[in-house]
Amino acid sequence: MALHQATSNSNAPVKDKLIFAPGHSPDDAHRAAQFTKFRLHRSDLSADPLIQFHQWFSAPELQSHIPETVTLSTAELPSGRISSRTVYLKELDKSGFVIYSNLGTSRKAADLASNPYASLCFWWKPVERQVRVEGRVERLTPEESQVYFDTRARGSRIGAWASQQTSVLKAESSSSSSPDDDDDGRAELEARVKEVEARFEGQDHIPVPPFWGGIRVIPDTMEFWQGRESRLHDRFRYTRAEGEGEKGWKIERLDP
Ligand SMILES: Cc1cc2nc3c(=O)[nH]c(=O)nc-3n(C[C@H](O)[C@H](O)[C@H](O)COP(=O)(O)O)c2cc1C
Repeated sequence: MALHQATSNSNAPVKDKLIFAPGHSPDDAHRAAQFTKFRLHRSDLSADPLIQFHQWFSAPELQSHIPETVTLSTAELPSGRISSRTVYLKELDKSGFVIYSNLGTSRKAADLASNPYASLCFWWKPVERQVRVEGRVERLTPEESQVYFDTRARGSRIGAWASQQTSVLKAESSSSSSPDDDDDGRAELEARVKEVEARFEGQDHIPVPPFWGGIRVIPDTMEFWQGRESRLHDRFRYTRAEGEGEKGWKIERLDP
């Protein structure tokens, strides 16, 4: 099916565009970055994409670059509207990729309630690599989530209880001229933090909130992308082969 034609003014002159070909310079030496650091061959790959992911994630070049930062995308049904946000990967086990979040009021929670499929996309600039993950999402048990919750700083545990993530915070009437005193809705959050602090005062153990916890993306497809010169990248896609009389993963090289 063809893409819909643009209805906005798509013929704006280059000089009117706020951003145009960033990183590009007329001087050839400074053209948009080329990817030249590594190559990826079929023979480099593990038969198991989770082992392959762990190997790439552990690259020494990435360790000071927060490689656990990842874009999580979800899609609401029946509208089909997709939303993406940055999250942190907190666990990788033999089933999949675990992230922690509010599972009550957030947009991701609403999307996943209507459609249990999600995707993750990692971009690791120092090694010029991208990894894409797609699959079904399952919720961790409260006991599993508690194990991670206990590792969080106290303030973050309090915050998880206090925040009705992505709900609108209502402003009190504003009369102050100082932006710090002028309530724009933040006061409602701060008041909830105080309430939660009082509730758990003197208590080391804080239970994981019932509306908060881990979700695991169980991959059925993963792609490993290694940037190459002239945009002729190396790409390998793993597809779960179960159910076709095969076990394991099918691996195919994709056109860049
Ligand atoms: C670097 C970074 C890491 C983040 N990590 C998390 C996370 O692990 N879990 C989470 O719920 N939100 C995290 N956030 C906030 C989310 O991007 C997002 O604002 C929040 O989850 C609400 O999104 P939603 O309503 O679309 O679900 C992070 C944001 C940034 C910029």
